[in-house]
Amino acid sequence: MTKKIMLSGIQPTGELHIGNYLGAIKNWVSLFEKYYGYFIVVDYHAITIEYDVSVMQKRIIEAAIEYLACGLTPDKCSIFIQSHVPAHTELAWIFNSVIPVAELERMTQYKDKSKNNETNINAGLLTYPALMASDILLYQPHAVPVGEDQAQHLELTRMIARKFNARYGEYFIEPDTIHSNVPRILGLDGQRKMSKSLQNHISLRMTDKETETAILRKGVTDLNRKLKTDKGNPDICNMYKWHTIFSSEDEQKECAQSCRNASIGCVDCKRILVKNINNELSPIREKINELENNKDYVYDVLSDGAKKANEIASSILNGAKEKMGLLSHRE
Ligand code: AMP
Ligand code: TRP
Repeated sequence: MTKKIMLSGIQPTGELHIGNYLGAIKNWVSLFEKYYGYFIVVDYHAITIEYDVSVMQKRIIEAAIEYLACGLTPDKCSIFIQSHVPAHTELAWIFNSVIPVAELERMTQYKDKSKNNETNINAGLLTYPALMASDILLYQPHAVPVGEDQAQHLELTRMIARKFNARYGEYFIEPDTIHSNVPRILGLDGQRKMSKSLQNHISLRMTDKETETAILRKGVTDLNRKLKTDKGNPDICNMYKWHTIFSSEDEQKECAQSCRNASIGCVDCKRILVKNINNELSPIREKINELENNKDYVYDVLSDGAKKANEIASSILNGAKEKMGLLSHRE
């Protein structure tokens, strides 16, 4: 039986963190039973905000290494870099002429990013969803697994498919969105979504020790619990929320109970969490180190991925151009 197709992408804007891992990649791996995957390092999306040119290449390769280390192996999926497949930007241009500006202006991510980049609100920031729709629709995926923050972009992708089909005839298939069971994890501050830009994250590349230091020093717990002898409330403790993701059920119960009756302090409770996070991340961290020393393999994977992606994407793009009444290029 041929597998269904899933597709997703992450911007190479810095080390991946446990939010990306839980909200996206871990979920992708769990879907391999049913789906073949296309996973894209979306570098053209990453240039819509200010970035350091001197580290971009490094970031792109690092993202690919992190994908592989998390279990996105080439027997189960194709991994490639967005800018290596020109059809993405071509179809994005076509979609720009399908999607109303008002829809683009409604996007929360556009509003947030333009607020944070007041000196560089470029057109790419606004038309970003047209490129994302192109990333997706070129591969006719059944499903797009992403974190909750991307739901709005996926809705717009489906709208673009519908608008194109209505104008030029049935062609693109509307994909489903799949959210992981951890669609949104808060950062160490316990207030905002975990994010590289907020520096409230635990990255996959941190050492065990760095993870421990970050959690012990910066992990916000129940703010009403001032002293170890105060009784705490796990329901409003972000570190306890992390326990429910990383710790065994017994440990969760034990921590919750001991917090409520003040028989465990926040530091000891955090130490249990640190142990479990480090246990889960340890094979990934090992694999990252191994791949950092075997970059030729990573380049080979990306080159195979781009070759396969180019074949599929250019054929879908040509079909779309035909539907639109454009003249085919004669070889
Ligand atoms: P980004 O790093 O914002 O490009 O996100 C890459 C992927 O990770 C997307 O599917 C996001 O929805 C997901 N993601 C990012 N941050 C979080 C978070 N704090 N919790 C859950 N998922 C996240
Ligand atoms: N916009 C997504 C993000 O910020 C990244 C992305 C680009 C993507 N193209 C995609 C995700 C295609 C899924 C499918 O996280």
